[in-house]
Amino acid sequence: MADPHPDPKLQARTLTRTFGRGQKTLAALGPLDLDIPPGEFTCIVGPSGCGKSTLLRIAAGLLRPTQGELRIRTSSPRPAAMIFQDYGIYDWKTVLANVRFGLDIQRTPRAEANARAMDWLTRLGLADFADAYPAALSGGMRQRVAIARALAVEPEILLMDEPFAALDAQLRTILQDELLALTQTTRTTTLFITHSLEEAIVLGDRVLVMSARPGRIIAERRPPFPRPRTGDIRTTAEFTALKSELWDLLRSEVRTEAVPA
Ligand SMILES: Nc1ncnc2c1ncn2[C@@H]1O[C@H](COP(=O)(O)OP(=O)(O)O)[C@@H](O)[C@H]1O
Ligand SMILES: [Mg+2]
Repeated sequence: MADPHPDPKLQARTLTRTFGRGQKTLAALGPLDLDIPPGEFTCIVGPSGCGKSTLLRIAAGLLRPTQGELRIRTSSPRPAAMIFQDYGIYDWKTVLANVRFGLDIQRTPRAEANARAMDWLTRLGLADFADAYPAALSGGMRQRVAIARALAVEPEILLMDEPFAALDAQLRTILQDELLALTQTTRTTTLFITHSLEEAIVLGDRVLVMSARPGRIIAERRPPFPRPRTGDIRTTAEFTALKSELWDLLRSEVRTEAVPA
């Protein structure tokens, strides 16, 4: 592996999490080491139940490690992280109020907050729905609202846990391409969890493969596609080759998991 960046935005050292006690202790995660340098989009793929959400919840400060540590270094009062899993938007707030939510928490003046929220809604093709309530939106539109809300606060680190898992394949591809375009503009340091290899290769500067539970990093690949890239890379031979290489790694972990300990 390459030398770690001297000042990573996110750093995990022997990060370990167990659940329960005694005979019923479940080793969910780690020990895991991870460095994410500023501006890097890191994707993590791993079999289901290997501890991916546990890692993200620790990074988001929602869960404590059992051992080891995870540190996020930020240089400004901007929030360290925004996370969105499933949709995570509020049904009782309008689309605009949902996107403004993080800005309201930061006490951004209302006029500025509205302008920034509208700007993000426009970038995601939702300007006409600013006054609508989420119930009136399709799944893809709801997820765009969640993306707009996360990006509107211009977080120093973006944490995403399978944000597109609930969407159908076509919509998923469209949102991958949108997120690709947006993040190549903002260059926000991102930790993106997915079980889709395609998604990881399209979006990631780096793809990390996690082992079966308790999840550890077992492989690292850098998709060989210079930025700015587009979704067109999906049809290249390099893409197919990397996808099958990653699938081979993942498949053996899925098997490991299927065998009772
Ligand atoms: N709060 C919890 N209490 C007990 N077990 C948990 C809890 N959260 C997660 N787990 C278990 O830890 C393991 C990893 O879960 P998770 O991080 O959600 O995996 P993934 O996101 O990779 O599918 C699973 O076996 C899961 O059942
Ligand atoms: Mg999960």
